[in-house]
Amino acid sequence: MADDSQAVLETGHWVAAATTRELKRRRKLRVELEGRAITLFAAGENVYAFDDLCVHQRNRSLSKGTMLHGRVICPGHQWQFDLETGYEPDQDVCQPTYQVRVVDDTIHVDLSPRTGDTQQRNIS
Ligand code: FES
Repeated sequence: MADDSQAVLETGHWVAAATTRELKRRRKLRVELEGRAITLFAAGENVYAFDDLCVHQRNRSLSKGTMLHGRVICPGHQWQFDLETGYEPDQDVCQPTYQVRVVDDTIHVDLSPRTGDTQQRNIS
């Protein structure tokens, strides 16, 4: 019988991004996955993955932003993206996000097109 963690990774285009130890240390980590800049955020026991460049002007890195009260605040113009959805309610836009799975100590990001579900996954 297949291992459950292996079954989780069978759909989508999952790529190993980092170890939980690397992310836990700084709570945010910018990674390059197949030419895409992605920032991982750790909040509580969950991991989230966002496109690194802000959807606003695409020249500011969210890895330089701040996490506060369940939101990522862009260092450019302080748009505030919900960690769960990427949604910015004042602007009515979404920062692109990715599904995340943690298998053993490795964080995997699904680079396939998103369908709009939540992208956080537990890292405990
Ligand atoms: S560049 Fe992010 S809010 Fe303007």
